[in-house]
Amino acid sequence: MPIQGFIFDLDGVITDTAEYHYRAWKRLADELGIPFTREENEALRGIPRRESLLLMLKGRSYPEDVLTELMERKNGYYLEFIREISPCDLLPGARELLHEIRAAGLKIALGSASKNAREVLERLGITDLFDAIADGYSVTRQKPAPDLFLHAARLLDLPPTACVVVEDATAGVEAALAGGFYVVGIGPQERVGRAHLVIPSLSGIRLQDICRRLEQ
Ligand code: BG6
Ligand code: MG
Repeated sequence: MPIQGFIFDLDGVITDTAEYHYRAWKRLADELGIPFTREENEALRGIPRRESLLLMLKGRSYPEDVLTELMERKNGYYLEFIREISPCDLLPGARELLHEIRAAGLKIALGSASKNAREVLERLGITDLFDAIADGYSVTRQKPAPDLFLHAARLLDLPPTACVVVEDATAGVEAALAGGFYVVGIGPQERVGRAHLVIPSLSGIRLQDICRRLEQ
C-alpha cells in the first residue's frame, strides 16, 4: 500500500528534549543520592514517566505517595527546562520534512508517550503542522505496545500499512513493528537497528528518499 501518512515521535526525533528528560532525572537522582549516568538514561528513551522513575530507582522501593511526589518533582524540573524551548530547538531537517510531507498532501500525526507533548509542540511553533496528536494521555498500554501508534493511525483514518512511524527509541521501534507500520529509526544501529530504514538524523532527508527506500 502506498505511504499516505507519517507518525512522528517527539522527544529525540523532532526536538532534543531527551537531553532535558535526562537532566531532570539526573537532578532528582542526585537529590536521592542515586548514581545515574547519561548511559543509563539511554534505557529511558520512549519509556513513560512512571516506568522511567522505577528504572532510575534501580529496585529501591518507596510508598506510592512518595513515588507520585517524585514523578511530580521530576516533571517540575522538566517543565522548567522546556520553558526555554523555542522554534530554534527543532532538530535539523525536522521542519523541512514536516513541510514537505504536508505539501505532498500526506497526513501527519504525533505519537509521543509524553504528557507534555502538546506544550512542547506549542513552544516549537509547529502544532498546526499536525493533523492529529496521540500523547501520554491517549492510551493505557504504552510503547513497546503498538496501541499509541494504532490510535494515531485511527485519528488519521489510515491503516498502519499506509503509515510511516519515525522513532528514536528501541521501545518505539518495537511498538511500530508490532503495529504493522513502516518504521524509520533515528540513531545508532544498536538502538534502532530493527527499523526498516535507519538514519542518523532527519538532516537532509527528503520525503521521496524515505518513500523510495521503504516501498522498494
Ligand atoms: C517520551 C520520552 O517521549 O516521553 C521519555 O522519550 C519520557 O523519556 C516519556 O519519560 C514520558 O514523558 P512525560 O513528559 O510525560 O514525563
Ligand atoms: Mg523519542
